[in-house]
Amino acid sequence: MTRSPQTSKQKIGPVTKICCIGAGYVGGPTMAMIAKKCPHIDVRVVDINEARIAQWNSDVLPIYEPGLNEVVKECRGRNLTFTTAVDESIRGADMVFISVNTPTKTFGVGAGRAANLEFIEKCARKIAEVSEGHKIVVEKSTLPVRTAEAVKTILSSTTNGASFDVLSNPEFLAEGTAIEDLLEPDRVLIGGESEAAINALVDVYANWVPRERLLTTNLWSSELSKLTANAFLAQRVSSINAISALCEATEADVDEVALAIGTDSRIGPKFLKASVGFGGSCFQKDILNLVYLCEYFGLPEAAEYWEQVVKMNDFQKSRFVTRIVRTLFNTVSDKKIAVWGFAFKKDTNDTRESAAIYVCRDLLLEKAKLSIYDPRVTKEQIHRDLTEAILASGVDANTCDALLQTNVEIADSCDSSAADAHAIALLTEWDEFAEADFKTIHASMKKPAFIFDGRNTLKKLSLDDLGFRYFGIGF
Ligand SMILES: NC(=O)c1ccc[n+]([C@@H]2O[C@H](COP(=O)([O-])OP(=O)(O)OC[C@H]3O[C@@H](n4cnc5c(N)ncnc54)[C@H](O)[C@@H]3O)[C@@H](O)[C@H]2O)c1
Repeated sequence: MTRSPQTSKQKIGPVTKICCIGAGYVGGPTMAMIAKKCPHIDVRVVDINEARIAQWNSDVLPIYEPGLNEVVKECRGRNLTFTTAVDESIRGADMVFISVNTPTKTFGVGAGRAANLEFIEKCARKIAEVSEGHKIVVEKSTLPVRTAEAVKTILSSTTNGASFDVLSNPEFLAEGTAIEDLLEPDRVLIGGESEAAINALVDVYANWVPRERLLTTNLWSSELSKLTANAFLAQRVSSINAISALCEATEADVDEVALAIGTDSRIGPKFLKASVGFGGSCFQKDILNLVYLCEYFGLPEAAEYWEQVVKMNDFQKSRFVTRIVRTLFNTVSDKKIAVWGFAFKKDTNDTRESAAIYVCRDLLLEKAKLSIYDPRVTKEQIHRDLTEAILASGVDANTCDALLQTNVEIADSCDSSAADAHAIALLTEWDEFAEADFKTIHASMKKPAFIFDGRNTLKKLSLDDLGFRYFGIGF
């Protein structure tokens, strides 16, 4: 593959004005951190979603992330602005980050696998349309390798005489620990072709990140590294989950196996926690994207290899539901099941691809009555997610509405959701669940009282001694 020769001939000065397109889970926290650590830089975060911008300007931010409120409060109105004034914010900036969503395509060529780059393309067109002078455009979104080529081509169609350098700077933060991850990243990756442009971004991060953690690469390595990092992480989860199924069949204990292999320094302990399955907006979409890239470049074996990581994850979710149904005497019809947690993991209100959606959907299709409690996810979000999942499984809209009306209740505490329930299904590892009063909860439940712990969060509490029938993952 040939390298694109475009490099900047422009003299690039220090960055003083940044615009970020996309005020989501990445754009919001990342820009808040840059504003905090670089008080000399004016940071504007723009979005076409007016309601989202209004929330960023209110006391209740649109995303829940520990420590985020404090950072936003410190910087908002000083050098951090959230606005819908897209054109003028782009025009005024020396550096423009693109941090918009890149979901899996649901239609046309590559449907179900390829990344939908429509929002990226719209951003590139907008930047080309309104820019004057020189700008550094930074891909912050996770993108398929070679996307920068398309971005550069679109930018070169500008008619205002503007010039551009394109950098890739993928974000490695994890939801729930975004502020920690941004404060002390393992590394920051910057890929590009123009040394001056790379250095301009290096200088921004160097305000708080040690220089040795600022890795610079070529554009394509940087784009591909982000997809690869997510694929490797998800692969570890699917690998230990595959072993959890074997543990349940053999009386081995998956946590003991994970400890035994995780203490091998070549393997390491992280991302070896067996669970009901990984979720979140990134892992599945990024692996599918990698699968699509492998297919596109004529590598079906490599595509199949990575696709298995996603298949294993689907198996883990359906296995969890099967275990509940079988254990509850082969039927959950009309039985109340308390669902603890709906977010894809603790410390976030994000439910995208949460395992809870699929577990709840399958339990509802088995006619269970669900009482769902999550400390951060709204009732509206739960209804939206379940509606979408049930409709996608082929159920018609009227039946879906009726099912949600009669069989789903949103509870305001884990105790109230468990009252009169046959079973508790713990699906998100929120800390408060381990602190619940299980003696009282047991007394309020139907007997025998079952707990299916999809995160092994309650394993150490010896709940069998309180009279529960306790089932975790992988033992
Ligand atoms: N969420 C994560 O944990 C995470 C971590 C690392 C990387 N990423 C990647 O970062 C990117 C953004 O993810 P996210 O979770 O922040 O998405 P998000 O959906 O939370 O936010 C994206 C925002 O972009 C806005 N937007 C879309 N098109 C726009 C346009 N043309 N002009 C202005 N605004 C526009 C949307 O309104 C939305 O508010 C994705 O590529 C994702 O893969 C996400």
